[in-house]
Amino acid sequence: VRVFALIGSPRKRGNGELGARYIASEAGATEFRFVRLMSKNIKDCRACYRCLEDKCPLDDDYGIILEEILRADAIIVAIPSYFFGDNASAKRFLDRGLQFYAHFKELKGKPAVGIVTAGMDYGEGYAQLALDNMLERMGLDNRGTEVLYGAMPGEIFLREENFGKLKTLASCLGGEMRIERGGDVACSLCGYPYFRFGKDGEISCLVCGSRYSSEGGVNLSRKEGTGIDLFDLQKLEEHREWLIGMKMKFLSMRNELKKVVAENFRPGEEI
Ligand SMILES: Cc1cc2nc3c(=O)[nH]c(=O)nc-3n(C[C@H](O)[C@H](O)[C@H](O)COP(=O)(O)O)c2cc1C
Repeated sequence: VRVFALIGSPRKRGNGELGARYIASEAGATEFRFVRLMSKNIKDCRACYRCLEDKCPLDDDYGIILEEILRADAIIVAIPSYFFGDNASAKRFLDRGLQFYAHFKELKGKPAVGIVTAGMDYGEGYAQLALDNMLERMGLDNRGTEVLYGAMPGEIFLREENFGKLKTLASCLGGEMRIERGGDVACSLCGYPYFRFGKDGEISCLVCGSRYSSEGGVNLSRKEGTGIDLFDLQKLEEHREWLIGMKMKFLSMRNELKKVVAENFRPGEEI
């Protein structure tokens, strides 16, 4: 299997890249190539719609990335959470996606998995939704996505549960497995579990727009102490201090991180 990965992080050997390398290797990839989206010239979509029938008129690196995707047997996408969502590289790439329409015959059914990396527990916000949406809009067979927590580069390997998630994703990519998306609360049209609770009890699916009524009522009760509260000035200032502290922590943990990265580093070729 030839595996190709889109890496959204600007970091070399960042958590997303390390995770993608690990998945490809565990999935038994015979070839693993990846692109760091931020190191390529990817222009913004100009909304000319020309690519639907002709070539995209923008002159940049998009075409070579698309070729790699078409050539690969399986795809990994790794996106870092920035400001409780996906980072700009992912959306910029996806926004050029009218070009996929000329290739859906090759893309449809191609196995894909995704990882979101996030520095704070439950700090991913809508990044997993964005990632699932991205895989779906690319026409890929989204076998599953996971959120991996870890702030400093390499830190995902300091948390045991991340190995389980990476191995599961590898089984999805290299085998027949898929991660069940949402159980009882998944949308019956698209299967994703992301909903908006609107006025008058109307619930809508954020992936496909299906609408649901909640005649039976929806009973939510927030678990005490949960939620990342950055909603007043003092909390924001405390968060800034925490972020500065993390930089110090990184310096003090450098050797430990280097060691765990070396232990879990898997091969791959950057395009
Ligand atoms: C500009 C910026 C914004 C970030 N925002 C968030 C956030 O909203 N939630 C979170 O959990 N982590 C946030 N992080 C932390 C990253 O998600 C975290 O470091 C992650 O490991 C990055 O993955 P990477 O090593 O693949 O780049 C942010 C990092 C940066 C640089």
